[in-house]
Amino acid sequence: MKKIVWLPGDGIGPEVLTQARRVVDVIADKYGLELSHSEELVGGAGIDGAGHPFPEKTKKACLESDAVMLGAVGGPKWDHFTGEMRCESGLLAMRKALNVYANLRPVRVFQALIQCSPLKNERIQDGLDIMIVRELTGGIYFGEKGSDESRETAWDTMGYSRMEVERIVRLACDLARKRSKRVTSVDKANVLVVSQLWRKTAGAVAQENPDISMDYLYVDNTAMQLVVHPERFDVIVTGNLFGDILSDEAAVLTGSLGMLPSASLGDSGPGLYEPVHGSAPDIAGQDMANPIGTILSAAMMLRYSLGNEAAAKEVEAAVDAVLDQGYRTADIAQGGTVIGCAEMGSRIAEYIKNN
Ligand code: IPM
Ligand code: MN
Repeated sequence: MKKIVWLPGDGIGPEVLTQARRVVDVIADKYGLELSHSEELVGGAGIDGAGHPFPEKTKKACLESDAVMLGAVGGPKWDHFTGEMRCESGLLAMRKALNVYANLRPVRVFQALIQCSPLKNERIQDGLDIMIVRELTGGIYFGEKGSDESRETAWDTMGYSRMEVERIVRLACDLARKRSKRVTSVDKANVLVVSQLWRKTAGAVAQENPDISMDYLYVDNTAMQLVVHPERFDVIVTGNLFGDILSDEAAVLTGSLGMLPSASLGDSGPGLYEPVHGSAPDIAGQDMANPIGTILSAAMMLRYSLGNEAAAKEVEAAVDAVLDQGYRTADIAQGGTVIGCAEMGSRIAEYIKNN
């Protein structure tokens, strides 16, 4: 029996998570998976219901689970909170508590959506398949921070230890081994000493993995190359902040942020799965959200936490099939039949049931 904790959170989180649950239920039936489910509070919902964006009860349930499925957190209602009471802080506390240091953000072009991409189609028509591996529990997100109001000054510090760099770069090499064996390590080593340590450590890991070809790029150059030559990338490994920025950029190349899933993994313990998009309060409650990023996150859960590659592939194929049939949510509307969040979820679930 595998335990899954569902954290709907805020904004469109509950809507997209409901559709992912539907898909997981159908796949569990089909593959005879024994799953137990529970739901907990997080984000603004956690503040309202339990007085904290990452309540103790939620933490305990997550730590005892095999996988955590998260919708999204945050919204204008809770924007006035500061420090550990911010919804974003709750999310960071959760990543840290679960020690999920590796954030996998696969970016691939869906042929059916190629005209939604902001890039000229010839740049991506041969496909685009990048795995961004973002370090998630260190770097400037978790460094020493402070402010001195009398001097009107504030600071955050970016630090990495050799151990933190080693484990994430090794993980990137292991992923690359199952792909085209290329890793690009991204840093700002021409300016930052933390990046000089990063680059040196990545180089040492590359020597341990002679079958992998590793190259090194500065983050500014990477941002440019992603729009000019996105096809040059296979696995990108980088720190927390650079990975945050580059993954939004890469994600939108595929047409919509709404399509992109993520998995956050540690060496042991539960994985955390969430769409790359946020809580989109402007469209919450209107059945307009795109549930595909969350449904594909569920596929990643099947792959990485439940070890069921066949079930994961089946969910991914169902998403492709429904897109090929011409169904679109509003964010990817160009040239298709626009349907709501719930209908998109049920079409994907039905496809799995019937095929
Ligand atoms: C993400 C988000 C978060 C991050 C925010 C909400 C804290 O942008 O998952 O990419 O910066 O990590
Ligand atoms: Mn982000």
